[in-house]
Amino acid sequence: MSSSAPAPASSPGNRRDPLRLVDVDFVRFYVGNAKQAAYFYAQSFGFEIEQISDLTTGSRDAATYLLSQGNIRFLLTSGLHAGHPASEEVALYGDGIKDIAFTVDDAVKAYDECLRRGADSAYEPIEISDEHGTVVMAGIKAMGRVIHSFVSRTGDYDLDRVKKGGQFMPKFQKQTDLAINQYNRDNPIGLFYVDHCVANVELGKMNYWVDWYSDILDFNLFKHFDDNDISTEYSALMSKVMDSGRELIKIPINEPAEGKRKSQIQEYLDWHNNTPGIQHLALLTKDELHTVGRLHQRGVDFLRIPDTYYETVWDRVGDVKEDHEIIRDLKILVDRDDKGYLLQIFTKPLQDRPTLFFEIICRRGSESFGKGNFKALFESLEIEQDRRGNL
Ligand code: FE2
Repeated sequence: MSSSAPAPASSPGNRRDPLRLVDVDFVRFYVGNAKQAAYFYAQSFGFEIEQISDLTTGSRDAATYLLSQGNIRFLLTSGLHAGHPASEEVALYGDGIKDIAFTVDDAVKAYDECLRRGADSAYEPIEISDEHGTVVMAGIKAMGRVIHSFVSRTGDYDLDRVKKGGQFMPKFQKQTDLAINQYNRDNPIGLFYVDHCVANVELGKMNYWVDWYSDILDFNLFKHFDDNDISTEYSALMSKVMDSGRELIKIPINEPAEGKRKSQIQEYLDWHNNTPGIQHLALLTKDELHTVGRLHQRGVDFLRIPDTYYETVWDRVGDVKEDHEIIRDLKILVDRDDKGYLLQIFTKPLQDRPTLFFEIICRRGSESFGKGNFKALFESLEIEQDRRGNL
């Protein structure tokens, strides 16, 4: 074939096209009570309760609340009868994340291509239309009962219009007069997008899912300075980070490892019906001190770390422009790689089970995930233990 011939349909360039991910369309949670969960995430984390789909809008099977902040869109869904999948999964796992959905140009083509590559179908394409436009969705199965939906949008349901406040899809109704929304507009938290979304899988399954994200969704193994799969005696987990490219999302995949303590990954699996799933979402802010300060005022419960952490952290991470005393007062963690530093903090679990939690992250150049804090956290805990004579 001459070099000027058009590329055949099977060339890598063309093959990738159907899976060009435009954006993270939404993150869907299955929850026991969508109405109450919506107020929790609005009151605690500053999300706008933007649109609702429920009995009052003609949805007979499920109630779904669209919450938004920056370029983050959560769908909180509860079944309205026992047979709805959300009801079944809440019974198995408690509240948690069901779907990380991607906007694509053509959801059917993306779905078909994934099936051709060996993915299992979660649900076949559905088309939801009215006089304003069309949303097409189709889903593939990822780890456990987590799925990835592909969403393509036309007419008024185009994602850019949704981002400007347009209707999310048919049967959604905008909320115009909720006092909490006005309060959140007056008192913004400052979350911008989902930086990463971490999956916990069973022992020995990390590399399977690394290959899956590479083979099915064209994600790449993300290389950074601390990227390795060697567990330390402290961290007791192994992790590899998959990158969607185009700065959309990264999906670190954890599996448990033997360590000094029971792996936090194993604890998750124990309380998640021995099923892999999403462990945390990291939400990005451009001003960690503002965001975390406001979240503290709203009563968000963060992991507490001992003051001893701050006896060594500044030597470890070097120059950090944010106020050191405020960082310490807010119990924010700091880490550095060869590209810069990051600030991060972790909430306690967001529901009764020790499963899903949030991370609030701010990047000052750093592209990593705070691995240096595993060791520092456990070391500072041991300093406390030692002071109590218990080490
Ligand atoms: Fe994280």
